[in-house]
Amino acid sequence: MKKSLVHVKDFNLTLGDKNIIHDLSFDVMPGEIFAFLGSNGSGKTSTIRALLGIYQPTSGTLWVNGQPLTPKTAANVGYLPEERGLYVRSKVLDTMMYFGELKGMTRDAARQFSMDYLERVELADKANLKIKKLSGGQQQKIQLGVAIMGNPELLILDEPTKGLDPVNRKLLLDIVGELKERGAAVIYITHLMEEVERLADRLLILKDGTARAYGTVAAVKKEFNSNSIEDIFVKIYKEKSSEVAHV
Ligand SMILES: Nc1ncnc2c1ncn2[C@@H]1O[C@H](COP(=O)(O)OP(=O)(O)OP(=O)(O)O)[C@@H](O)[C@H]1O
Ligand SMILES: [Mg+2]
Repeated sequence: MKKSLVHVKDFNLTLGDKNIIHDLSFDVMPGEIFAFLGSNGSGKTSTIRALLGIYQPTSGTLWVNGQPLTPKTAANVGYLPEERGLYVRSKVLDTMMYFGELKGMTRDAARQFSMDYLERVELADKANLKIKKLSGGQQQKIQLGVAIMGNPELLILDEPTKGLDPVNRKLLLDIVGELKERGAAVIYITHLMEEVERLADRLLILKDGTARAYGTVAAVKKEFNSNSIEDIFVKIYKEKSSEVAHV
């Protein structure tokens, strides 16, 4: 059996006086796209923040490659956060190269990667513009470029297609598919179930801080006797919430 890249076991998280996650366990394998799903406020972003060491878990294990993330090992992780934002007064190419070098790329490699990427996403003519001169969707494409620099073995994308037009959404999904082909593990957070149907190998649906569905797309469909992830999601959320104590 392949070794998991992300290992989350019996993870509990309390923020303020709110118990957000209860005994959550899951694994993400190299080379798979793992859809991490759940309604607004169900705890997806908070789980990612705990995995990245931004939030301290109340209890449990959150490992990447067999250990908690450290600044050094985090260089192998690409992250597109839900809250977007680059330093708007910097130029596009300078920004990308800065992050590339932070991830250990040589200056030449960072420049080459950035120019190739900008060409791919049709922003090469904006390379020497300040970020603030770009539209929201264009800035988002730059932020994706930053996230995938240095060929991360783990890529975490928190609603990456939010606000993108259909052409750019397809472009982004193609790029994510290619990263998977190259062996990266991708944790993909989205509210769009057609993206899950198109991309995901396995999925987890979070509700009330626990996993209500977890497994390969085919296995989850079989378990819920449905051919539609969207229907399964709705069914799970229509169920009366279990009596989980929210302390
Ligand atoms: N720093 C914080 N302090 C207290 N509560 C927080 C904090 N961050 C998030 N929460 C709460 O934790 C819960 C989960 O939030 P989270 O952002 O993880 O949800 P999400 O699944 O990412 O939702 P969405 O789909 O809307 O992005 C929410 O009830 C939110 O109010
Ligand atoms: Mg979120």
